Amino acid sequence: MQNVENMKKMTNEEKNIHPVFSQILNRSDKERLLQQRSKVIWLSGLSGSGKTTLARNIEMDLNKRGYLTQILDGDNVRTGINNNLGFSEEDRIENIRRIAEVTKLFIDCGIICINSFITPTEDMRRLAKDIIGEENFIEIYVNTPLEVCEARDVKGLYKKAREGKIKNFTGIDAPFEPPENPDVEIKTEEMSLEESVKKCMEVILPKVKYPESLK
Ligand code: ADX
Repeated sequence: MQNVENMKKMTNEEKNIHPVFSQILNRSDKERLLQQRSKVIWLSGLSGSGKTTLARNIEMDLNKRGYLTQILDGDNVRTGINNNLGFSEEDRIENIRRIAEVTKLFIDCGIICINSFITPTEDMRRLAKDIIGEENFIEIYVNTPLEVCEARDVKGLYKKAREGKIKNFTGIDAPFEPPENPDVEIKTEEMSLEESVKKCMEVILPKVKYPESLK
């Protein structure tokens, strides 16, 4: 394998790569076909905060309304395309970078992505926004306090992290920086799941709705 760092510095010409950016159908043709605006709904928050549950329920609600969606989350990404990555800061950045690139492909295909990843730092969220485009990004912060996530401990990982059996665990010995300006903040302790979905949908629907004028 060629040296990855050197490859990154090379231009496409030097790599003999000729990316095809202009397809026969472009994004707006595909959005018209699907009668939707493609966006990413990016949920961040601690492990066990309820991101996946919320993502699934947002997806069900959107699908009922006729929108085509794709969920990306740790379970389908870290066992597949990112199965060579761990939880060091460097690997988490690479995790988010690849996810953002994949998301961009879905968005270019007119599909709404629902992403649930811890995405623990402002820099990582910034990286995702820079790759995907801020105008395509709906940011939801699933704000469940560490004590609550730890008490639930659905996967038993907090216990292991406290025992030192998992290193770099977010909230225990790795940082989580709360998002500064999310489009929606969901405090899962204070709201039912139905209320949380409703609050998210109020922000999501106007952004994904296909404009009457273009129909
Ligand atoms: S991120 O930080 O890179 O955004 P991601 O959302 O993909 O994380 O994966 C988080 C999931 O991986 C957690 O919900 C948990 O199940 C599992 N996991 C395993 N080790 C860790 C760890 N050290 N820190 C956080 N989550 C971990």
